Amino acid sequence: MNLTTALCAFIFSAAGWIAVEGYRRVPRDARLEEVGRNRLTISVKTTAKFHETRAKDIVDTWFQLAPENIYLFTDVNDEKLNRSLNGHLINTHCGLGHTRDHLNCKMNAELELFAREMSEWSCHFDDDNYVNIRVLLDVLDLYDHTRDWYLGKSSTRGPVDIQGIGGKTSFWFATGGAGICLSRALVDKLRHRISNGGFFNLGRELRVPDDMTLGYLINHQLGVPLTSVDRFHSHFEDIALIGQHEIHSQVSLSAGSYDARRPNLVNVPIAFPTGKDKQRFRSLHCFLFSKRCPDFR
Ligand SMILES: *[C@@H]1O[C@H](CO)[C@@H](O)[C@H](O)[C@H]1NC(C)=O
Repeated sequence: MNLTTALCAFIFSAAGWIAVEGYRRVPRDARLEEVGRNRLTISVKTTAKFHETRAKDIVDTWFQLAPENIYLFTDVNDEKLNRSLNGHLINTHCGLGHTRDHLNCKMNAELELFAREMSEWSCHFDDDNYVNIRVLLDVLDLYDHTRDWYLGKSSTRGPVDIQGIGGKTSFWFATGGAGICLSRALVDKLRHRISNGGFFNLGRELRVPDDMTLGYLINHQLGVPLTSVDRFHSHFEDIALIGQHEIHSQVSLSAGSYDARRPNLVNVPIAFPTGKDKQRFRSLHCFLFSKRCPDFR
């Protein structure tokens, strides 16, 4: 830390703010008690195209709740973003894009991190998710990490049918865009199936996206059921329908939409001009964690 940064940090902490690099300020009460690395590891899937937008929205808001525990998985190097993540940016070298292979490759890298860290809980989210870590920890406390748990939300009404290895197969899968959590016991069982690109190869063989590959592996191959947590929300849902009194108890919210003309945003009081808060995560962060809204720049 150089003198200017140190001075800056001192001034802002004296004023009750946590400052990083002098431009990112988050109110102290938005920070949780330190969450042990042993307790929780979170991976967020992003891509170069969204570093300045979605990734920045996360850095400015919920990343600050547990900066030691959260890693962003992307496809290029980006020193500036990496600095704001305290070195928690991982270049998967999976290739730019949103193809099945790229997604399965990235998920393989995320799962490898889970297997290395061996936290009690490992959770995946997308870069258009807002995650309330405090609620997430409360929800995870309801389950025993020494047993197999596959937590998430299905976006289909029933199991999916695909042409699996050796015939038609029916299984449940949790939608990646709503968030997926795995207990330590389950991650331990996945370990040898994901090493050396095992997950990527499975996805390639099945010809399905990453979250479906994971469902096939966990639900079909390992026989572990999907436990549905309805407090996870992907952009497949109409996010605005979640009432303001319910927002405090949701684990994940989303802002993505396949239709750029019709944004899908959380219904909270708007605290920042829309142009500066396109996903409305800053307003949401203020709504959840502070009466004082930080001055995001
Ligand atoms: C981010 O920084 C860390 C720590 O210096 C480094 O290990 C990592 O490779 C960097 N990631 C990227 C994508 O540059």
